[in-house]
Amino acid sequence: MRVAPWFLVLLFVACSGTGDATAHPAWVRESLLLKNNRRSTDTDSQRAAAVKQAFQTAWDGYQDHALPHDQLHPLTNSSDDALGGWGASAIDALSTAVVMGNADVVKKIVSLIPAINFTSSSPGTISLFETTIRYLGGLLAGYDLLKGPAASLAASPDTVETILAQAQSLADSLKYAFNTPTGIPYNYLDLNSKSHDNAQTNGLATVGTLVLEWSHLADLTGNAEYGTISQKAESYLLNPQPAWTQPFPGLVGTNVAIETGLFQDNYVGWVAGDDSFYEYLIKMYVYDPSRFAPYKDRWVAAAESTMSHLASSPTSRPDLTFLDVYNNGTYNLESQHLACFAGGNFLLGGSVLGRQDLINFGLKLVDGCHETYVKTATGIGPESFGWNNATVPASQLAFYQDAGFYIINPEYILRPEVLESIYYAYRITGDQKYRDWSWAAFTAIDQTTRAGSGFSGISNVNIPGGGSFDDVQQSFLFAEVFKYSYLIQTDGEEWQVSGSGHNQFVFNTEAHPLRVAG
Ligand SMILES: *[C@@H]1O[C@H](CO)[C@@H](O)[C@H](O)[C@H]1NC(C)=O
Ligand SMILES: *[C@@H]1O[C@H](CO)[C@@H](O)[C@H](O)[C@H]1NC(C)=O
Ligand SMILES: *[C@@H]1O[C@H](CO)[C@@H](O)[C@H](O)[C@H]1NC(C)=O
Ligand SMILES: *[C@@H]1O[C@H](CO)[C@@H](O)[C@H](O)[C@H]1NC(C)=O
Repeated sequence: MRVAPWFLVLLFVACSGTGDATAHPAWVRESLLLKNNRRSTDTDSQRAAAVKQAFQTAWDGYQDHALPHDQLHPLTNSSDDALGGWGASAIDALSTAVVMGNADVVKKIVSLIPAINFTSSSPGTISLFETTIRYLGGLLAGYDLLKGPAASLAASPDTVETILAQAQSLADSLKYAFNTPTGIPYNYLDLNSKSHDNAQTNGLATVGTLVLEWSHLADLTGNAEYGTISQKAESYLLNPQPAWTQPFPGLVGTNVAIETGLFQDNYVGWVAGDDSFYEYLIKMYVYDPSRFAPYKDRWVAAAESTMSHLASSPTSRPDLTFLDVYNNGTYNLESQHLACFAGGNFLLGGSVLGRQDLINFGLKLVDGCHETYVKTATGIGPESFGWNNATVPASQLAFYQDAGFYIINPEYILRPEVLESIYYAYRITGDQKYRDWSWAAFTAIDQTTRAGSGFSGISNVNIPGGGSFDDVQQSFLFAEVFKYSYLIQTDGEEWQVSGSGHNQFVFNTEAHPLRVAG
């Protein structure tokens, strides 16, 4: 529940000040927020109810045809165990069911957790990164919410403690991955033989997107080791060597040698492989500003370098801003749906640090990514796109002239990042426009990807109907797409992102809300 009426929170912020705001003092921003921030209307609550219903459809299909496996294949009513076989969709759905107040689904998922055996997995390889963000993040968020503001949904305190015990059991199974000469973990593990893939390198995002979940587990259990091993791995990313692999302050290469801790390249961007490393730098500061101020300094350096060196506008649409990829002296003029989280991350950082320039830049990125949705035949953005005017495919010349991008990979696999950034834009500006954008995107996704007993990825966002189905209902549909689509249409519970920059929860990269420290 919200702890204070808006005006009291705003008064407090206005009096205390929020650091080095460059464009507007805190009171100007806060009074803009006060003016813009609207309460949910009947329309907004109808939208929220429609999102809850879509969640229920996806859950019912999963429960009927896939549980206890990881993901539903909605057209064939079959399933996969692509994520260790511990019921990934159920764990990813937990925090969304909680914030929606869906007591039946919460009860069902909580009742499954004690029986999961995290000491062995389905045959094959698991990813330390994916296991951390989906399972560890999902369990810790379920624990934080059911222990705290959503305690009324929990059957008993004992069942809630079991969630934390299971998170710890999972981490104990995984932590051998960090036993390397540097402490940089292997990402691909075979838990059943306690072995790994012997890789020479690990990636910026896969190393740099562990520290929030593992540090939080350390804080909750009192066992500091989970935090220290993840922070040791992160230390190589915060102090990149050799110097040429950091071509702009804060922006670093992609692959790191596990044996030496040295970066191997200077491929720089907010795209797959790099993305959530930057995301977590500012989120660690939100989680605990006293312990993680150096992470914030690295984020600010990266954000400022990004504005100076990676912001790029298409020649056909100079009004749009996309984030480019820099690779050893050349720019790719390409980006991805995944990278569209960046707008939301600039908005979070800008709001927390009181920097209007970062907020304004975040809003420009939100606009650009929104444009990738509104210009396609389905109203959904593509997996990847480009804006190099010298390489526009002939078949897409007219499209590029109008839209400012051309489609490279036309698939959509139920990704959340555009909805995510629109959510931050709404929370931080209070502008109803963003609720409308989110609703339009959600409606397009609902209409196009609903298939069989649930929802499925599609092959082509730019033909009506979306082409063919891939028959996979990704677990992050539950954790992210439904959560951001729902939360934006509803008012402030304490787990919502705060418009004033004073957050009680921080969302991990899978949209699992973790309670901030202290
Ligand atoms: C899958 O299950 C749904 C009910 O959940 C049913 O309507 C549909 O016909 C089934 N599809 C197949 C291919 O069996
Ligand atoms: C979990 O799996 C391991 C490895 O297969 C097995 O040795 C252990 O007995 C299982 N634990 C439980 C509680 O079933
Ligand atoms: C970067 O470019 C330089 C000069 O063109 C080349 O010598 C070097 O091998 C490149 N490095 C990488 C990692 O591609
Ligand atoms: C392509 O972009 C370059 C650099 O912005 C510009 O100089 C050139 O005129 C553009 N070419 C076309 C065909 O638009």
